[in-house]
Amino acid sequence: MITIDKDTKMVVLTGAGVSAESGLKTFRDSDGLWENHPVTEVATPQAYQRDPAMVWRFYKERWKQARQAQPNPAHKALARLEDWLGDNFKLITQNVDGLHSRAGNKNVIEMHGSLENGLCNSCGKRSPMDSIDLEPEIPPCPNCGSGLRPDIVWFGEMPYRMQEIDRLLQSCDVFMVVGTSGVVFPAAGFVMTAAYLGAKTLAVNLEAGEMPHFVDEFHQGKAGELLPTLVDAWIQQ
Ligand code: OAD
Ligand code: ZN
Repeated sequence: MITIDKDTKMVVLTGAGVSAESGLKTFRDSDGLWENHPVTEVATPQAYQRDPAMVWRFYKERWKQARQAQPNPAHKALARLEDWLGDNFKLITQNVDGLHSRAGNKNVIEMHGSLENGLCNSCGKRSPMDSIDLEPEIPPCPNCGSGLRPDIVWFGEMPYRMQEIDRLLQSCDVFMVVGTSGVVFPAAGFVMTAAYLGAKTLAVNLEAGEMPHFVDEFHQGKAGELLPTLVDAWIQQ
């Protein structure tokens, strides 16, 4: 068993699996289709150029779903972990649903952006979705009136805050992955990089896949069931 104490520098990477028990579908567990479009074809700059209204319909819908969802015991366990470890804890998420922050986590890196903002193509300003007029097919920027895009990192775009993430991979003692299929790069490579640079690694995932070969400790099952037990055991050690 990997031991964790208050001085352990811990980094956690989460994926869609951590929000599955909040009722939000994961990408590869749904049939991968939305209005008959493969999801991977909606989430690209090319799709936005071709049909911005279609891309906006998709993200408006996902934003509504995310707002209605509630943090589940997995999110809450990660918030308890941060309360305990303080600044030694960092959370990197591929999720765009905002549930980690709503559960109380403060050090959250949303590397794939957030459903909670629109981003202006012209002036570059971010605007919270609830301050935007969502009626038009392509909502206008409240600052300059140009068309907004969702503040989401699409396939082919560079994830946010990569330099900061690099530094975290170099400096952490323990790296944990939760609820991610590990097929979308660069996030998929983080656990191997962290291990190569000396961190102990663990994973919590519903399906085993290749993960058990990469990590020191693998826990198979639902994040909402396993994480609270793991976190309580670390805190009580
Ligand atoms: P995926 O849908 O690819 O993988 C979800 C993983 O979570 C799978 O391995 C499931 O077995 C696991 N899982 C499902 N329910 C779970 C539960 N209750 N507890 C624990 N694990 C569970 O989602 P991601 O890996 O997050 O990118 O996908 C990565 C990226 O691909 C996303 O961020 C998104 C997508 O295209 C962008 O939007 C840029
Ligand atoms: Zn603007």
